[in-house]
Amino acid sequence: MRILLTGATGFIGSHLVPDLLAAGHEVIGLSRSTDGAERLARTGAQSFVADVNDLDRLRAGAAMADAVVHTAFNHDFAQVKRHSEEDRAVIEALGQALGGSDRPLVVASGTGLVERRAGADVVTEADPHAGLDIAPRAATEEAAEAVLARGGRVIVVRLPQVHDARHQGRIAHHIRLAREKGRVAYIGDGANRLPAVHVSDAVRLFRLAVENGPAGARYHAVAEQGVAMRDIAAVIGAGLNLPVASIPPEAAADYFGVLARLAPLDLAASSAQTRRDLDWTPKGPDLLADLQRIDWAAG
Ligand SMILES: NC(=O)c1ccc[n+]([C@@H]2O[C@H](COP(=O)([O-])OP(=O)(O)OC[C@H]3O[C@@H](n4cnc5c(N)ncnc54)[C@H](OP(=O)(O)O)[C@@H]3O)[C@@H](O)[C@H]2O)c1
Repeated sequence: MRILLTGATGFIGSHLVPDLLAAGHEVIGLSRSTDGAERLARTGAQSFVADVNDLDRLRAGAAMADAVVHTAFNHDFAQVKRHSEEDRAVIEALGQALGGSDRPLVVASGTGLVERRAGADVVTEADPHAGLDIAPRAATEEAAEAVLARGGRVIVVRLPQVHDARHQGRIAHHIRLAREKGRVAYIGDGANRLPAVHVSDAVRLFRLAVENGPAGARYHAVAEQGVAMRDIAAVIGAGLNLPVASIPPEAAADYFGVLARLAPLDLAASSAQTRRDLDWTPKGPDLLADLQRIDWAAG
């Protein structure tokens, strides 16, 4: 397939490019910079220089492709509402370009955006995304649903914490806080969990989704249902040689700042249906193993 990949220079995109090429696909990597385009060209991918928010140019890129995988997102969380609404417009434009055809549009979302059913231990693929009032980023899945309603073959891949030994997303903020404060904190008994996947497993799932996913499919790229926050804190403490301690919920704002709302949440997620439907078995290192491989001295 000839696949347009947005976010091709990002963490997940830059691992997905070689995986798609190795599987025999043609990749058109979208990048907003000429520097990014040059890096893509060196991998063997074609490049398409565009800002995703230039919707006419984006549609022109999608029109050249048999499939689109959309992983671009602006992660400036100070403006999450604005960027989420931009993502809605991007997904709707991609949907228009692909029309009601069988050409797949795979969209990246997050397991953290899913509403957990009362009494359930984990969120599943069958659970809907939260409302916009709780999570502005729900705009992404709302847009995917709108494309589906117009007859598009849209597939949602929900990601947990994606990691390797250099990138750990949200945990990088926990590490920065620990360095600043000289101690590592978790809330209460620290049993609340973060689901995780190694980047190599996440990209294989994106490939299986674009190759095989039917219209309306939702997949969870979850290798570990949930890693306890106190276990993550223990590895950070060992790496930085800092004390690790529980703090009460009322002290969360003081320690965690902007992460205070997120820090106590239990975000455990299942991928049982995804594993069955796509015959996907994660093989990469687990989150704590990758955290142990961090070069702590590098600062
Ligand atoms: N990584 C995780 O743990 C995780 C967890 C849950 C959900 N997700 C979702 O998965 C997707 C990919 O995540 P990631 O970790 O790979 O993100 P990332 O490393 O931040 O990469 C984002 C990519 O989007 C591109 N981009 C941003 N704004 C753009 C614009 N206006 N025009 C063109 N390109 C633009 C960036 O381009 P530049 O290279 O030019 O900056 C970059 O290539 C995102 O939707 C993310 O929210 C990721």
